[in-house]
Amino acid sequence: MSESKKPVFQPNPEFSKDARIKNMSEYQALQDEAINDYESFWSRFAKEKVDWIEPFTKTLDESNFPFVKWFDGGKLNVSTQCIDRHLDTRGEKTAILFEGDRGDIQKITYNELAKSVNKFANLLKEDFGVKKGDRIVIYMPMIPEAAFAMLACTRIGAIHSIVFGGFSAEALKDRIIDANAKVVITADGAFRKGKPYMLKPVVDTALEGNTSVKNVLVIERNKEEITWVDGRDNSYAELIKNKSDVCEAEVMDSEDPLFLLYTSGSTGKPKGVQHNTAGYILWAQMTMEWVFDVKEEDVFWCTADVGWITGHTYIVYGPLATGATTVMFEGVPTYPDAGRPWKMVQEHKITHFYTAPTAIRVLHKMGEDEPKKYDLSSLKVLGTVGEPIDPPAWKWYYEEVGNSKCAIVDTYWQTETGGHVISPLPGATPIKPGCATLPVPGIIAEILDPITGEKVGLGESGYMCITRPWPSMIRGVWGDEERFVKAYFGDVKKDGKAVYFTGDGAKYDEDGYITITGRTDDVINVSGHRMGTAEVEAAINKDENVAEVAVVGKPHEIKGEGIFAYIVLKSDVEDEDAERKSINNIIKKEIGNIAICDDIIFAPGLPKTRSGKIMRRILRSIAKGEKITQDISTLEDPSIVAKIEMMVNG
Ligand code: WT7
Repeated sequence: MSESKKPVFQPNPEFSKDARIKNMSEYQALQDEAINDYESFWSRFAKEKVDWIEPFTKTLDESNFPFVKWFDGGKLNVSTQCIDRHLDTRGEKTAILFEGDRGDIQKITYNELAKSVNKFANLLKEDFGVKKGDRIVIYMPMIPEAAFAMLACTRIGAIHSIVFGGFSAEALKDRIIDANAKVVITADGAFRKGKPYMLKPVVDTALEGNTSVKNVLVIERNKEEITWVDGRDNSYAELIKNKSDVCEAEVMDSEDPLFLLYTSGSTGKPKGVQHNTAGYILWAQMTMEWVFDVKEEDVFWCTADVGWITGHTYIVYGPLATGATTVMFEGVPTYPDAGRPWKMVQEHKITHFYTAPTAIRVLHKMGEDEPKKYDLSSLKVLGTVGEPIDPPAWKWYYEEVGNSKCAIVDTYWQTETGGHVISPLPGATPIKPGCATLPVPGIIAEILDPITGEKVGLGESGYMCITRPWPSMIRGVWGDEERFVKAYFGDVKKDGKAVYFTGDGAKYDEDGYITITGRTDDVINVSGHRMGTAEVEAAINKDENVAEVAVVGKPHEIKGEGIFAYIVLKSDVEDEDAERKSINNIIKKEIGNIAICDDIIFAPGLPKTRSGKIMRRILRSIAKGEKITQDISTLEDPSIVAKIEMMVNG
């Protein structure tokens, strides 16, 4: 099928009627407003959307680009923006609708959320001496207390750094050390597939030896037995009892840091992406309103984990800033069967369902007919994020889950962008399967030629760049200014000026729609999670039998990409399968289960240039089963390629 024949799906007119942005001319008017007077555009929305304690005096200061300041002079507090200002009008509305793995349900109103967050904030202050600017690591399951912990930090100006619960003790330790954290908030464990699992023992291992952590706060969820370090470990149930439910919100500057979130890059060490206060919360709220068009009576469910940026922006901050009801789910979508999400949609009358293509593929594969068994008529908008969505998954999602009446918003963004940057708007944008379509109004995103820095033409590919700073953009890499500048502003120049490069390639179709084609760097996308090849290689190198390793991504039916490792051993091992196991065990220990390799090949050598650079492109092609046609005569040892090809593809 040629691209121009790609099917186009028009927005549902019923939905458009009441949408905030109703058609493409309204979209264009907003985007023109931004292009014509960028600062006025943002100043208008910042005034309209944020409850300022003191108004800002300057909209955008780019004199020190790429270190920019948004809404300088403004004072606000994010927890106030997410909670207090709703209490008069929607205090008794459900803020968080929690469903546990075993079906237990909690409905937490805005009034109750206010109390829990204030008590939690008082606990951090009074019992642990937490102050504005302190770093708090949160290592938690998907339970409401994770949201309380985040909001409690923002209430007192502490900077949270959430580490995804699937990361190993080593990975947790690295992040605790890099952030120099004072407190770790965790849980004994939680429930998955009907059974308890543990988190606290991972924290114990991570804190062995000397770290900066003075206190660990343990939320009792599964009530399994845990070891207790006196003087360090504290029971949440005990300490929260006598806390006041009033805690004055710290007055924060627009550019005070809000949180850190570690993500993978092209070196072995993850980067602590820093987001600041005003710009982040503004865009979290605006994208809830524009991209999801969430209304007062809606029930919004984002299935991500709070350990990823999607969980930060679209489970906690965005929905609560808008005053929505946000669903939080402890379990996995396929337990007790692949109808679980649809059962939840029916029961809670969920209107918005936002998930990753990998989850859609699993649900499709394991429960093709499950959606038919439930009443999904409450659904209005479906969303995807994390990787390109393949046409069969899109079709099933659109037809079977959305009953061919819901918009699918294919939202493209990153940990670094804080919120959506390219996405359809559900009431306005005609959509095409697998296509993120157009920049969200206010975002000046362009596909540039990496060499000339010029915008590429229709039908052409280039680098996905954002050419003006936007409010929710990354403000720094924690403790590493140089890496921030190099990693994001070092590759592409437009009109001689450095611009933000996402790391993704992209293409315009004949209508000017943007399709993301994938990473241009050594980052793999496993089930919508970013994994640096260098990070996995560093872990594998810890195996004493390994001499050299190169890791690449390989297309995977469910995960999108799987991890494929080419390893040169120091000398032959007796039992290759045992060696593969031992390597994956090291990966589990150093990073976590998400980085386990699907394929491990013991190669006689790696294809390298004469200067010693590993030719990953060749390794990627071999992993995919492609024939190598490119010129390899300049390699240090060209015969290696044929040998590896034989081993992998026969
Ligand atoms: C990378 C960012 C943003 C939350 C989840 C992942 C890829 C993200 C899409 C999409 C194609 C996508 C990109 C991006 N990506 N959304 N809709 N279509 N690719 O956050 O871990 O920071 O990863 O995910 O490659 O750079 P992240």
